[in-house]
Amino acid sequence: MQLNKVSLILAVLISGSFLACGGGSDESNSNSNEDSQSMYQKEERVDPMQDKGVGPITSVELGPIDDAMVAEGKAIYDSKCTSCHKPDEKYIGPAHKGISKRRTPEWIMNMILNPENMLANDPIAKNLQGDYLSPMANQNLTEDEARKVLEYLRTL
Ligand code: HEC
Repeated sequence: MQLNKVSLILAVLISGSFLACGGGSDESNSNSNEDSQSMYQKEERVDPMQDKGVGPITSVELGPIDDAMVAEGKAIYDSKCTSCHKPDEKYIGPAHKGISKRRTPEWIMNMILNPENMLANDPIAKNLQGDYLSPMANQNLTEDEARKVLEYLRTL
């Protein structure tokens, strides 16, 4: 009698732990499937140095750095962009150091002049979004102002 009770309890315990074990591993399997799927979907194969973006700018001629334009561009940047960007570190938006080596000049100016459209339609801009809480804001710069900011960004 005593022995039967003990083996009954053991049987319940053992089958219980089997169930728990099975449930646990099922769950972790489905999680890792979801992870690899979403990472796969996020990946888009676009060469950033071929992408001019979407917006008013289709072609930019770059010469040697123009110091007067840099100074004007920095003043615009300091008044309209530093609420979200720092040159050297990630802030509300990405750091801008080295941006001219990662993006075409046309893409950079379209991102400044036409961010809503870029975030909706440009593959590189779309991919950036998940990493930041609030979206890149249109600061209503003129093309001339955006060109000066681009000149400043080339120096970072
Ligand atoms: C309200 C915050 C905010 C302001 C103001 C803002 N940005 Fe942005 N910017 C962002 C965010 C956030 C991103 C990343 C894309 C996204 O998530 O929308 C971004 C992305 C960018 C990018 C692309 C960066 C990369 O690594 O590809 C450039 C270039 C840029 N901003 C330039 C500017 C300039 C120039 C100004 C000022 C005229 C400016 N931004 C003002 C938030 C801002």
